[in-house]
Amino acid sequence: MADILVTRQIPGPAIQMLRDGGHTVRANDEDAPLPRAELLEHIAGVEGVLTQLHDKVDAELMDAAGDQLRVIANYAVGFNNIDVDEATRRGIVVCNTPGVLSDATADIAWTLILGTARRAIEGDQMMRAGDFHGWGPNMLLGGDLVGKTLAIVGAGRIGFEVARRSIGWRMRILYVARSAHEDFETELGAERVSLDEALAQADYVSLHVPITDETHHLINADRLAMMKPTAYLINTARGPVVDEAALVTALQNHQIAGAGLDVYEAEPKMAPGLAECPNTLLLPHLGSATHETRDAMSALTARNLLAVLQGAQPPHAVNPDVAAARVADG
Ligand code: GLV
Ligand code: GLV
Repeated sequence: MADILVTRQIPGPAIQMLRDGGHTVRANDEDAPLPRAELLEHIAGVEGVLTQLHDKVDAELMDAAGDQLRVIANYAVGFNNIDVDEATRRGIVVCNTPGVLSDATADIAWTLILGTARRAIEGDQMMRAGDFHGWGPNMLLGGDLVGKTLAIVGAGRIGFEVARRSIGWRMRILYVARSAHEDFETELGAERVSLDEALAQADYVSLHVPITDETHHLINADRLAMMKPTAYLINTARGPVVDEAALVTALQNHQIAGAGLDVYEAEPKMAPGLAECPNTLLLPHLGSATHETRDAMSALTARNLLAVLQGAQPPHAVNPDVAAARVADG
């Protein structure tokens, strides 16, 4: 039986599942990240660790854990907080939680699309400020959705769910991906185009790529300049995919109509000027924040940990070859 560190209080069944599996769980009971020094101290000697996006999992942390560390299970679909190459070199399995949060994240993308298009935040602020003095024909006019063009950048599960939800609005769907995706084309009638074409044609551009060297600042000043002045940029993926300072300039100059963001380049901070842009809807990284989804992520993270610790293939390894080699080694 193994020792497992859980770096922050999480909802759902994970801790009970790990204890029921006979493991010893060291859990941070606070709903706050462990300071680095404590993380380095508490990880010593564990075989498994349940990490969060704010935990930087690098060689130093793996050294602090020790050679017996077998599995790092991130409570997230993204794993940009983990040095996966370093883990792979050491034969440590890295796991994530894809799939279970696709619907919730797609719903947040649509919250941003609808909220920016219909100026919901400005309307809410008007109500609360007591500035609503009666219906007006020119008050807070926004944009329609029906018949408009939606571009999905990154054709993974979340992008697919965002696209699928547009069927009710009878939108034309474009998608940007390195290869053709059968599901987008046959189920949704989507058309694959280059990023530049998507930016030029879309009324709504929704980002669903992971953050990598290639996607860092994918949406920069030049690319923002390709968008229509009536178009909206939606980001529920990772902040650094967008050059946030360039976005602020584009919003200030009304180069695009607005932006809906759930993620930020230097999260939890925002670029100077962003908060003052009225044509934005800004959420604090709520993509997977529903009770059902966080419970499902909790259960999946525990299943990932339990599988590796039992010598089995986990449901979702980021480096499946390492997981397979461990199974083969028994
Ligand atoms: C959230 O951003 C995640 O990667 O799960
Ligand atoms: C997430 O589940 C994705 O693959 O987009």
